[in-house]
Amino acid sequence: MSAPTYQAAVFGATSSICQETLRAMLRQQPARLLLIGRNAGKLAAVADDLRCRGAECLTLTAPLADFATDWASLLPQHSANRPWDLFLLAHGTMPDQEQALADGNSLAEVLAVNFVSPAVIAAACGAILDRQGHGTLAVIGSVAGDRGRGSNFVYGSAKAGLDTFLAGMRHRFAKRQRIKIVTLKPGMTDSPMTAHLTKGPLFSSADRVGALAWQAIRAGTPVAYLPGWWKLVMTLIRWLPEMVLHRTRL
Ligand SMILES: NC(=O)c1ccc[n+]([C@@H]2O[C@H](COP(=O)([O-])OP(=O)(O)OC[C@H]3O[C@@H](n4cnc5c(N)ncnc54)[C@H](OP(=O)(O)O)[C@@H]3O)[C@@H](O)[C@H]2O)c1
Repeated sequence: MSAPTYQAAVFGATSSICQETLRAMLRQQPARLLLIGRNAGKLAAVADDLRCRGAECLTLTAPLADFATDWASLLPQHSANRPWDLFLLAHGTMPDQEQALADGNSLAEVLAVNFVSPAVIAAACGAILDRQGHGTLAVIGSVAGDRGRGSNFVYGSAKAGLDTFLAGMRHRFAKRQRIKIVTLKPGMTDSPMTAHLTKGPLFSSADRVGALAWQAIRAGTPVAYLPGWWKLVMTLIRWLPEMVLHRTRL
């Protein structure tokens, strides 16, 4: 059997939304996947599942939030001398906000995992795409970054920073039509990250969000709300005057 031609490196590959995105990809095409994450055992289980779905998988265990890894040098060592079609960044964590606000180290860690780490990795991936002249960088942000709200602004501010970083990268590569920078913005999604929350009508399943994420990646959609109706919801929330917002518990 010939090797798959589509090649992707995936950070935070154990994420539930990410796994569903990769499953949606594999329903349409075979792929060679470099799965990167902090937990070797979980990565191996994800790799086994994706192999059953037709992928060729390698795993790489790395502490994504320590910033010591030189990704721009390391990724080419795992490329089998083929270009990368996709870099997908999925890692993130939703903290207990009160705990993060009460402890500077915990606050810094949340900002590091949700903003600094993906920004550092995105910059390295951007340098590789620049050299190759083509490919897609897709990063999972969040609707939470669209407006600072009392209930979720620690996580939200990190995702807002990431949103701006990616918008800037998109501008930087705007004249390179074969390079796509895709910001994925899921709304509330049923995954291990939200296991502690009561599920209401605004929740979507991880498989639906993953399938929509893959559609957006394939299309090279610059900013994709997942599902799309979150764009309307967040437009309304962004437009709320502060005096109205402050009367809510959003
Ligand atoms: N679920 C939602 O409602 C929702 C909504 C909007 C955006 N998002 C975003 O979607 C992405 C995926 O989340 P998910 O819902 O799929 O949740 P998930 O299944 O809990 O996945 C979280 C991922 O982040 C990794 N991670 C967490 N802390 C880390 C750290 N300190 N260092 C390295 N990796 C770390 C986890 O690795 P381990 O498996 O090793 O723990 C896992 O791969 C995240 O960026 C999240 O912010 C989620």
